[in-house]
Amino acid sequence: MSDQAREEWWQSAVVYQVYPRSFRDASGDGVGDLEGLREKLGYLSDTLGVDAIWIGPFYPSPMADFGYDIADHRDVDPLFGDLAVFDRLMEDAHAAGLKVLIDFVPNHTSDRHPWFAASRRSRDDPLRDWYVWRDPGPDGSPPNNWLSVFGGSAWELDGPTGQVYLHSFLVEQPDLNWRNPAVREAMLDTMRFWLDRGVDGFRIDAPLFMMKDPGERDNPPNHAGIVRIHKPMGAYDAQLHLYDQGHPDIHDVFRVMRAVLDEYDPPRTSIGEIHEFDPRTLGSYYGEALRGLNMPANFGLMKTPWTAAGVRAVVDALEAGIPLHGWPNWVLGTHDDPRLATRLGGDEARQAAVLLLTLRGSPTLYYGDELGMREADIPPEKQRDPWARREPGLGRDGCRTPMQWSAGPGGGFTAAPEPWLPMGADHDVRNVETELRDPDSMLGLYRRLLRLRRRSRALRRGAYRPLDGVPAECFAYVREEGAGRAAVVISFCSDPLTVDHPDLAGRIEVSTERASEGREVAGRLELGPQEAVVLGRLTHG
Ligand code: NOJ
Repeated sequence: MSDQAREEWWQSAVVYQVYPRSFRDASGDGVGDLEGLREKLGYLSDTLGVDAIWIGPFYPSPMADFGYDIADHRDVDPLFGDLAVFDRLMEDAHAAGLKVLIDFVPNHTSDRHPWFAASRRSRDDPLRDWYVWRDPGPDGSPPNNWLSVFGGSAWELDGPTGQVYLHSFLVEQPDLNWRNPAVREAMLDTMRFWLDRGVDGFRIDAPLFMMKDPGERDNPPNHAGIVRIHKPMGAYDAQLHLYDQGHPDIHDVFRVMRAVLDEYDPPRTSIGEIHEFDPRTLGSYYGEALRGLNMPANFGLMKTPWTAAGVRAVVDALEAGIPLHGWPNWVLGTHDDPRLATRLGGDEARQAAVLLLTLRGSPTLYYGDELGMREADIPPEKQRDPWARREPGLGRDGCRTPMQWSAGPGGGFTAAPEPWLPMGADHDVRNVETELRDPDSMLGLYRRLLRLRRRSRALRRGAYRPLDGVPAECFAYVREEGAGRAAVVISFCSDPLTVDHPDLAGRIEVSTERASEGREVAGRLELGPQEAVVLGRLTHG
């Protein structure tokens, strides 16, 4: 077997994203913490049955962007605990069979980071070139038209030295200068710091921003109103972002990061936050000879009509477009996007669960989506996201409300009188405790799917083959390896549907309609409205 075809642990893993502020508050201050997460490891590894967790930023931070503004890369913010708690969490997670990925934020730091404090002190400071400083125009204008993702110019004048610095995100998040070898080395050492502590990999934040056009040319206007990523970005969409991110030199950065991950045994992994929708371009980030990102995150399913043809088009294009042996990632929810069950609808979110956990690749599953948590409507006075304050309507608080563990005040998340964001309005009925008692719940469905995936090698590792000759309102595919075969059929039809296909044979193992489970199928499958099923002769193991 060639090196590239080697089986890696992360290729079988379902990764669960924990937004640490919102998962479980053990300290009672209304904000989630690492000890709270540690208490809930059993839920993740056994009750739910995922294989890995990705923990959002927990580093010391002024929290201008809730932890994506890091003031010290090598510690834990007291709000979340300390390094000893982190070590205990790692130990217990590993003992429970869970791998741990953490957020790595390479493009920027907090403006309170000691590096930036030094860098802004004087034009001659040895760390001046660790960030991107330029002279403003004679009239004080910025050096080019680049925009901050969160609104306004990406350049900020810093009084004392009379120069501007670049911040692709908030003013409080100055961009590091990745063209400076010393920055590179310092950040690679940061990776090693956590890898030496035992972490199994990183989710890499906003990585394309690390390499900009060296000529720093103006971005052209977006006259055609092209929506570049999977959602509108407000004022940021006024330009085509050709020059402020994604310069091809980024491939070399990914290569050196990968080399660090590969220094460890077994090799650690990376999921890069890449918003690219052309499969060839997305595929390029796996790198030459697959020596780049282990998995570029794949948001394709969030940018397609929720129809059989729309979903199949994304899956087929990805399968055809990424490099041979490139291992896909699938995303349907994150801490930056409106909740899945609100975006798609309740029944559609059940179809989405089947899809997410049966496609070829390693899915990332956003906390609470397994309960069908809805986007919360946060009144303006309780909104916390800085983006909401700058561009009303783009705020991300609605998908960051506390995990709904049980009914009652605090929802099993906190004992504090008020959590940092309000509990979702439906938390009395939609919560872990209630849903565990109801096998027809969203949680029941996720648990059955995760269990099936654990015992089916075809689902974890098998090839993907779409089925033609099925009704237009349904998307059907087979995952197969050796004698093991799972067929997945998802009906997008609001009426019952009959599907005839010779590959549809075997037992219905999991369905969005539990009553269908256990039925034997032999070439003809009767589906209820919007039903999604997994069936077949699954070789276990
Ligand atoms: C992407 C992260 O997912 C988002 O939450 C954050 O605000 C930006 N990067 C800046 O780090």
